[in-house]
Amino acid sequence: MLQRVVRSTVIDAPIERVWAVLRDFNSHDRWHDVVAESRIEGGERSDQVGCVRSFTLQDGHRIREQLLTLDDREYRSTYTIVEATVPLQRYVATVTLRPVTDAGATFWHWESTFDTPPGRERELRDMVAQGVYEAGFANLRRHLAGAADLRGGAAPMPVALPLAARRVVVAAYGGADVLRGEAFDAPPPGPGEVRVRQRAIGVNYLDVYLRRGFIPAMLPLPGVPGMEAAGSVIDVGPGVHGVSAGDRVAYLGPRAGAYASVRNVPADWLLRLPAAVDDDSAAATLLKGVTADYLLRDLGRIGRGTRLLVHAAAGGVGLLLCAGAARLGARVIGTVSTDEKARLARAQGCDEVIVTRDYRFADAVQRLAGGADVIVDGLGDAARDENLAALAARGHWISLGQASGALQALDPDALLAKSASFSRPVVFAYMATREERQARAQRVWDALADGTLGRPLIERHALDAAAQAHRRLEQRATAGALVLVA
Ligand SMILES: NC(=O)c1ccc[n+]([C@@H]2O[C@H](COP(=O)([O-])OP(=O)(O)OC[C@H]3O[C@@H](n4cnc5c(N)ncnc54)[C@H](OP(=O)(O)O)[C@@H]3O)[C@@H](O)[C@H]2O)c1
Repeated sequence: MLQRVVRSTVIDAPIERVWAVLRDFNSHDRWHDVVAESRIEGGERSDQVGCVRSFTLQDGHRIREQLLTLDDREYRSTYTIVEATVPLQRYVATVTLRPVTDAGATFWHWESTFDTPPGRERELRDMVAQGVYEAGFANLRRHLAGAADLRGGAAPMPVALPLAARRVVVAAYGGADVLRGEAFDAPPPGPGEVRVRQRAIGVNYLDVYLRRGFIPAMLPLPGVPGMEAAGSVIDVGPGVHGVSAGDRVAYLGPRAGAYASVRNVPADWLLRLPAAVDDDSAAATLLKGVTADYLLRDLGRIGRGTRLLVHAAAGGVGLLLCAGAARLGARVIGTVSTDEKARLARAQGCDEVIVTRDYRFADAVQRLAGGADVIVDGLGDAARDENLAALAARGHWISLGQASGALQALDPDALLAKSASFSRPVVFAYMATREERQARAQRVWDALADGTLGRPLIERHALDAAAQAHRRLEQRATAGALVLVA
């Protein structure tokens, strides 16, 4: 008959610290006393589903176990014995963690089913329950308390260890193929830093420019792209106050490096995530929402009746701009490349949508509205002359980006005939102080929580599939935001 063993406990440490150890399928010889030595076969990663750990117990038994599932969102892993000198047959075990509300502690559930030779049921059940699970609970507690000598039990003091993690690296500037996933050890946080377990990473068109080498100072090689992410705090470095392990956070910063499952960031960048905002929505809307916020409120001064032309109106920034501008009473005109994108832009408050794939829109804007008071342009060079032609008298052309190519030098006199103005802003200048970052992010969280932004449209890719996400963005195949899931 199939045997079942179930044990659970509460560990006095935040879930991220406990999970950081348990998700590493090869960590057990560092914290579990019964394991003498362990290695992952075939040079695979220790968090790669399908990897096999081969280990020896203190009593000389040898076991090979395979990782079947690993779910960072559910804090759950499943594994099975594929070969063993102990007589456990068809052994499948599951480890699940849950945060203990407001206590900074973790509920740990460990269960398994297996067969045994006849007559040995009780002996083997006790061995698993006490020798493996209950001893493991005690051993991990001691490990997390930071005993300097894990087997000797020296005086406890907190020790931050490197964590096995993944990241996406650019070794040479170029096409999407240069984005390569790799394993790395995420070091403990330094002074003023916080180590973040990142679950959702925002993809922005800026990441494409950096990958192509347009702004080398922002992505020196080899480099990790990405400006924003959401997740939770693993641990904090010296001198950090007011942030604790387990806190849900997001950040947006002017230094690239977010395409990683774990990252150290300055504590000063962190923004607390309200319960109503999930990680994916935060990563999908933080940089883009803050951009829409400064464009609408500050630079564009959008108000009732403003004739606003939004390019790529169904894109990540575009949809947020349409929704925000419609709320302010603006008359929103959008350009998109397909009918489906037109439908999405309309649903977010875009009054008129021009469907064009070849950047011809000026006549339509003049016909519909007599010109645009404000143009938000992420298209760049291919739309240059049409933008000049689409402006209304005293109009303001905001050159936000260059998806079609870098804007060629503009003769100031080109603006003269319409007494027009031109800006070339960057989001980081509009969140330069902690107060400004907090205030802008809070407006984004509020809009997400109260439904004014609706449910963000999110296309998800695995962190290791960042190249695929970039390819789709550059092929104009996406609508809404792209998020890498770690
Ligand atoms: N300066 C800042 O502060 C700041 C901040 C955030 C974003 N941005 C800029 O704002 C723009 C939008 O950013 P996003 O991340 O939200 O991207 P996105 O709008 O989701 O994606 C780019 C969109 O641009 C359009 N596009 C037109 N020609 C293209 C081409 N040749 N190649 C690729 N795409 C083309 C496509 O929409 P259609 O197919 O509908 O034309 C595409 O979906 C980008 O230029 C970005 O650099 C600037």
